[in-house]
Amino acid sequence: MARNLKTFYACTSCGATFAKWSGQCPECGQWNTLQEERAWATARKSRDAPTPASAPSRLAEIPSAAEATIPTGIGELDEVLGGGLVSGGVVLLAGDPGIGKSTLLLQVADRLAERIGLVLYVSGEESLAQVKRRAERLELHAQGLVVLAETEWPAIEGALRQVNPAALVIDSIQTTRHPEWLSPPGTVGQIRESAQAVIDHCKRSGTIGFLIGHVTKDGAIAGPKVLEHMVDTVLYFEGERHQTHRIVRSVKNRFGPTNEIGVFQMTEAGLQEVKDPSGLFLSERPEQACGSVVGCAMEGRRPFLLEVQALVTPAHYGSPQRVSTGVDQRRLNLLIAVLEKNCGLALGARDVFASIAGGFRSSEPALDLAICAAIISGYKDIPIPADTIAIGEVGLAGEIRAVPQIETRLKEAEKLGFAGAMVPSGNQKKLEYSGRIRVVGISALSQLDKLMS
Ligand code: TYD
Ligand code: MG
Repeated sequence: MARNLKTFYACTSCGATFAKWSGQCPECGQWNTLQEERAWATARKSRDAPTPASAPSRLAEIPSAAEATIPTGIGELDEVLGGGLVSGGVVLLAGDPGIGKSTLLLQVADRLAERIGLVLYVSGEESLAQVKRRAERLELHAQGLVVLAETEWPAIEGALRQVNPAALVIDSIQTTRHPEWLSPPGTVGQIRESAQAVIDHCKRSGTIGFLIGHVTKDGAIAGPKVLEHMVDTVLYFEGERHQTHRIVRSVKNRFGPTNEIGVFQMTEAGLQEVKDPSGLFLSERPEQACGSVVGCAMEGRRPFLLEVQALVTPAHYGSPQRVSTGVDQRRLNLLIAVLEKNCGLALGARDVFASIAGGFRSSEPALDLAICAAIISGYKDIPIPADTIAIGEVGLAGEIRAVPQIETRLKEAEKLGFAGAMVPSGNQKKLEYSGRIRVVGISALSQLDKLMS
C-alpha cells in the first residue's frame, strides 16, 4: 500500500492535532504550543487492536475482589502508591533532570527483580556501562535485572518478547522513538505513540510498567498533558538539587489515594527512605529565633511538621517585596492583607519573605496560622516558644477556621516533643485528644496578635 506522508500540528499542552498552524491552540487556548509533526497517513490504523467482545454485567453480581497490590519493597514508595503496584498498571514518574528518577527506578527494578521475576530496564539516555556503574554504586545485584540501551520501539518490543519481564522501566519516554512517527523523539506525537505502545503491551501482558518523564522549567511534564491521562498513576519527583531530600508525590492514582507523599534522602549509596520526615524538616531549626514557627500540613493521609520562616524588613524601594519559597505566593499576599486589616500591622512599608524550611512545598490551608504567626513574630521581633505549634486556616475576615484531622496533627507534634499548640477554637471545642500537649483555642488573628505583644 502506498504510504502518504502527512504533516500536521500538535499542541504540546493538550495533545490535540490540527491541519493548520495557529498561534493559539483552538482546543485548550494556550499560546505558541503548536508543533509541526509528520507521520505516515496509514500509521494510525493499526493502533486499535480488536478487543474481545465483553458483555455487560449487573454490578451486584460482580464478585468483589480487591486489586492485588505488589509492594515495591521500598516502604515510602509503597505508601505513595497506596500499598504497591498493580499488575498491568503503568506508572509515570516525572521530575526535573538530575533529580534522581533513574536512581530510584533502578533501585525499584532491583527490588522487584528479587521478588517477582525478570525486570527489563530500558535506558535511552545512558549506555549499558553507565547503568552498570550506577548499579555498582547502589550495590544492586539482582540476577533478574535485565538492561537494554535502546530508543527504538520495535527493538524494545523485540526485547520484551524475548525476556517477557514481570516489570518494565522506560528511561525515558522522551527518548523513545516510534517508527510510524517521523518527528524526532520528545515531540508530542512521539511521546504519545511510544507511551501508547508501552501501555498496550502492559495491559495485554499484565506487565508492570514505569515511564520516566522529564518536566519542563515550569513544572509540567514535557510533552502533552495527555500522557497523564493515558497512564494509571502519575508520580512527581520533587526536590531542590542542592538539598539532599527528595519527595515523591502522587497526583493521580487509579488504584489508590492521591496526594500521598514519600520522603527520601539522596546519599552516596542512592535514595534512602526517610522514616521520620517531620524530624528531618525540623532538624536545623534555630533556637528562639524571631519569625520561625512550626506548623503542620497534611499531605495525603500523613501529617508533616514544617518550619515556616518569615523575614520582615523595612522596604527601601517603591513597592514592598513579597517573596515566597514553598508557600503559595498568592496565599502569602492574601495573608499579609488580612494581617494589615485585622491586626493593624504596617506591612505596606515592609518587605516580607516567607519560606518553608528545607525546600518543602505545601499549599495546605492549615499552615496559614503558622505563616501569620511567623510574620507577626518577625514584624514585632518577638520569638514564639520553640515548643509551640500553630495550626489553623485563616479566613478573609481574620477568623481562624477549623481544619480536618486535628488529632492526627497533634499526635505527630507530641511525638516530636512539642508542649503547646494553638489550634482553631472550632477544633478545640470538639477535640478528642488527651495527650501531653497543652492546647489553646484561637478564634481570630487579632487574638493571636494580642497573645504576641
Ligand atoms: P539520576 O538518577 O541520574 O537523575 P535523573 O534520572 O532524574 O536525571 O540522579 C542524578 C543525581 O543523583 C546525580 O547528580 C548524582 C546523584 N546520585 C547520588 O547522589 N547518589 C547516588 O547513589 C546516585 C546513583 C546518584
Ligand atoms: Mg535519568
